[in-house]
Amino acid sequence: MRKFLLTLMLVAALSPVLRSENPPDEGMWLPMFVERLNYVDMQKMGLKLSPQEIYDINNASLKDAIVSLGGGFCTAEVVSPNGLLFTNHHCAYDVIQKHSSINHDYLTDGFWAASYAEELPNEGLTASFLVKMDDVTKVVLEKVTPEMSEGERNGIISKAIEALKEEASENGRYEVSVKGFFNGNEFYRFVYEVYKDVRLVGAPPSAIGKFGGDTDNWMWPRHTGDFSILRIYSGPDGKPAEYSKDNIPLKPKHFLTISLDGVEKGDYAMIWGFPGTTDRYRTSHGIEITLNDINPAIVKVGGRILDIMKADMDQSDEVRIKYASHYAGLANLWKNKLGESRGLKRLNVYDQKKAIEDHFTAWVNADEQRKELYGNVLQDMADVAERWEELGYNKKLWTFQISLYGSQMMQFPLQTQGIINILKSGLKGDELKEALAPFYEMGEEQFKDYNAPTEEKLFAAILEIYRQDIPASELPDIFNLIDKKYKGDVNLFARKVFETSVLTSPENYYAFLEKPSIKVFEKDLAYKTVNSFYNAFMTQMMAAGPLNDKLKRAQRLFVDGLRKANPEKVYYPDANSTMRVTYGQVLDYYPADAIHYDYITYGEGILEKEDPTNDEFIVPAKLKELLLKKDYGKWADKNGRLPVNFLSNNDITGGNSGSPILNGKGELIGLAFDGNWEAMSSNIAFEPDLQRTINVDVRYVLFVMDKYAGAENLLKELKFSKSR
Ligand code: ARG
Repeated sequence: MRKFLLTLMLVAALSPVLRSENPPDEGMWLPMFVERLNYVDMQKMGLKLSPQEIYDINNASLKDAIVSLGGGFCTAEVVSPNGLLFTNHHCAYDVIQKHSSINHDYLTDGFWAASYAEELPNEGLTASFLVKMDDVTKVVLEKVTPEMSEGERNGIISKAIEALKEEASENGRYEVSVKGFFNGNEFYRFVYEVYKDVRLVGAPPSAIGKFGGDTDNWMWPRHTGDFSILRIYSGPDGKPAEYSKDNIPLKPKHFLTISLDGVEKGDYAMIWGFPGTTDRYRTSHGIEITLNDINPAIVKVGGRILDIMKADMDQSDEVRIKYASHYAGLANLWKNKLGESRGLKRLNVYDQKKAIEDHFTAWVNADEQRKELYGNVLQDMADVAERWEELGYNKKLWTFQISLYGSQMMQFPLQTQGIINILKSGLKGDELKEALAPFYEMGEEQFKDYNAPTEEKLFAAILEIYRQDIPASELPDIFNLIDKKYKGDVNLFARKVFETSVLTSPENYYAFLEKPSIKVFEKDLAYKTVNSFYNAFMTQMMAAGPLNDKLKRAQRLFVDGLRKANPEKVYYPDANSTMRVTYGQVLDYYPADAIHYDYITYGEGILEKEDPTNDEFIVPAKLKELLLKKDYGKWADKNGRLPVNFLSNNDITGGNSGSPILNGKGELIGLAFDGNWEAMSSNIAFEPDLQRTINVDVRYVLFVMDKYAGAENLLKELKFSKSR
């Protein structure tokens, strides 16, 4: 396998012509291989840096300015010698929300620290630098044989991975992860230095950072200042340290220079970051499952939950602030899945996949040995899909997942059920107090952003959805009780739950922890409900579970065969929250017949969209004044206009949010923050003509920092370059 890969790469490096099968902008490439696989292309397209300036494990290089936030939900980049980070507003949204209250509504008003002392710490928020990566495929797969069951295989792989992690961790100095690539055909090890004190430094008001709201989300043309500013702190010795007031701003190995040259159509542009998940090798069966089962369940359950939350958020500022982050996350997913289904259908992704599979089958059938190895792969996938369909597996799985994700009361009883075992263990006095301490913390977490009337409505709605969508024979037991005692009325039942449960209000919960009792917990209606949901779910999953192994194996073989069937093509691995680079250019597009979308938007567009009656399109008075007066400071383009957002044809996905978009010299020209509506199926199939990344122009970021927020203290830290 490894030898094969090397040959493949050699072929690729020697014959760039053969590689043109991939559109140059497609692919999320591993930095370690850029020199071998992509460098020639990149140079031709406008890259001016040397391979060592991009990725070097011995000297400071570009990669040392890029961090993964919180283990992968977003990307950020170092932009000053004092550890200042740029990322998206939506990446810091949760942090901003947590610091907000009616009295300090940073979501609405924004937040700007005037000095280090005012920067706000965030428990749990980390920034990870990639120290190095290496190929460990050979070691991981050493003891694996093709005949093994998936279970055996997984056991052996996990053991090898544990040893590899241990070996590189330098006694806990580094965090190490080993991840599978190409559906488990290759393995790479990543060594990270993880900083644990990351503070909030600046954020525009949501009317700038989230301008256009969910209406504009996933769409172009866009006018959003989707940026925020954080800072990494280290211990006094410069090493990672837990939060302490003695910590100091990080002295980074490398930080990005900011280009004031602006962007023009066709300019080289690359994006570095930590894309989360793609599934580009999903087969036609997978497309059917996504379209028929997974996405409809997410859209239906998610939509109902969002409507309920929104109605309550519109009624009260307190509820709005409490639910803002939760709502935004689900709304983002909901619209994504809606768009994904639309894209899959309109772009005929099923047919595209089918064509790839037909080609694969022809290749397999041309050779006896291949038939032996790969002959059952597609049939196995078809069998799994058929059996899943019979079992209604994916619909049930996602109905449960989204219910859990959307409703706090569907989770809390599962999180706290450990109380039962503690009580059963017979601990007394101080020992018992100590064992229960974590549950006080859980309570704090739970009730901080909690509104009981909203949760009661969500609880009832989920019961109703289950009744409609899950076959009667597979409904959780609790429905027997609801039918018998509450005449099937889920609202009446939900009322009773919220009236009587020890888990539905902080007062009841803490009172219970003071005088805990097994009987009370086991009889608690919230616990009983959620426990019966969980049991029903597990029964359903058990029935369908073994099929997962069959599918995993088939997919691994499919990707292996596919790469061998097309040796002239250089395949890139699916995103998996490891560092990647994607390169392309600043570019417009044609979303539909006779419609042209330009590649850049300007300040005037913000005023065109203004609608004081719609909270998604309010323009803050001060911004409006600046825009009307064209008071853009140093940040206007050469025609005196204020650039806001621009498009590029880079290949990104969720997790890339906040990623730097860089020019050929590796200087910052903007921050990636979104994808576009016409290519929302992009996680499954790349669409060269339609797929674009939406970036916030760095000049708009600087304009907001300077003219809107007066954040001179921060601007002074940055390094600029201007050459045209
Ligand atoms: N669609 C963006 C992403 O997933 C998130 C945008 C957040 N903005 C919003 N209006 N919800 O990266």
